[in-house]
Amino acid sequence: MKVLVDIKDLIENTIEGSTVFNNLSVLNPEHIPANLPHRETQIKELTVSFKDLILNPGGTSIRTVIVGRTGTGKTVTTKKFGKELQDIANKKGIRLFYVHVNCHRQRTLYLMLMEIAQSLRLPLPNRGLSSQETFKLIYDYLERKNIHLLLTLDEFDYFISTSPVEDIYFLVRIYDELNVNVKRLHYIFIVRELTSLSSLDKSIKDHIIKNVIEFPPYSSFQLYDILQDRIVNEKAFKQNTVTDEAVKFISDIHGADKGGSGNARLAIETLELAGRIADAESSPIITIEHAKKANSKINPEISIITDTIRDLDLHYLLLLKAISSLHKKYEEDFFSMGKVEEEYRNISSLLGEEPRRHTQLFEYIRRLKLMGLIITRHSGKGMRGRTTLISLPVPVSVELENLLDQEIKRRLQKSQVNS
Ligand SMILES: Nc1ncnc2c1ncn2[C@@H]1O[C@H](COP(=O)(O)OP(=O)(O)OP(=O)(O)O)[C@@H](O)[C@H]1O
Ligand SMILES: [Mg+2]
Repeated sequence: MKVLVDIKDLIENTIEGSTVFNNLSVLNPEHIPANLPHRETQIKELTVSFKDLILNPGGTSIRTVIVGRTGTGKTVTTKKFGKELQDIANKKGIRLFYVHVNCHRQRTLYLMLMEIAQSLRLPLPNRGLSSQETFKLIYDYLERKNIHLLLTLDEFDYFISTSPVEDIYFLVRIYDELNVNVKRLHYIFIVRELTSLSSLDKSIKDHIIKNVIEFPPYSSFQLYDILQDRIVNEKAFKQNTVTDEAVKFISDIHGADKGGSGNARLAIETLELAGRIADAESSPIITIEHAKKANSKINPEISIITDTIRDLDLHYLLLLKAISSLHKKYEEDFFSMGKVEEEYRNISSLLGEEPRRHTQLFEYIRRLKLMGLIITRHSGKGMRGRTTLISLPVPVSVELENLLDQEIKRRLQKSQVNS
């Protein structure tokens, strides 16, 4: 007869022995690694732009634009730079604060200003303040506490495409119009393409595009170094579990010099998925075969969409769910706004959520389109009147459905906790 300890061993071994991962969290897109291979030049350029914050703080208001395609390290590099510069300044007795705002999460000027106040731990009164009043409070606070603020506006293209011109103008110009001796506010604008700024007024544009730092797509050997850094220095995996061929394969697939997009996020995601596949097959190592399987599963479009969905508010998610559920029910490519709205109302009422009004939904649809989460077109002749037709840019998959359900559940739980 077998003794119990064998079973315990078996279970323990299975739990402990069945994974190639050592620390999954360092593969998370939010993780900031200690090293940033192949971004030394950009960090140097940033330092040159902002060195007066250390050498001669308050002399001028400094602004820099960062440009680069998705996954080229814009966010991670600025966050790291901001934090380090803040540390260096603080050690020298300069009260520099680094604040990183994502314009996609903080969708309006007002939400952005609230986020800045919160990062500065500046309490705001409960009564509804206007953006102007909030800005004034922030600015007075900087003066009072002798603080310099380095503000990064990440995904600034999104702010430009969705905000009223007055808000953009306010954000970019207001500080210059104040007659202050000590300049305390400094900006980094992050965009994917410089052309996103071309719709702006010349006066605003000239103001922003004084200094541009480019983040080119990564080549294969650069991606190789980035992946190796996560493996060796950040210890994402147990020792000697990732074969060199697997890392080379992934770097080659995504390297810009070999026809890939040069996107480090995709490369890291592929590596993580390869690890999960190895685990699922109870393989103690990640082979090139696992990397190939992972690659065939990763769709770059889906990965961007997934990221965006995680930031959405409840009713945007409900609308997306309505569209995906229509796609499942009927084998049609496009659905009329009316149909989408009806499905959305059904889903909302099932969840006990008050549906938003028609005009509001139109605005949501417009924004979902800007985010690339839906595609729309106008109905041609034949239908009564012209109506907007809506579709999803990717096929409805189990993963997409699960993601939507999971995010909707999370929002509902959160609103229960808050009420
Ligand atoms: N040089 C690098 N060294 C290490 N990791 C990197 C490097 N560049 C990017 N990464 C990693 O790749 C992923 C994507 O980087 P990041 O989010 O900074 O891209 P981005 O340029 O901001 O993309 P997007 O335009 O989509 O916001 C992150 O996990 C980041 O940590
Ligand atoms: Mg980013």
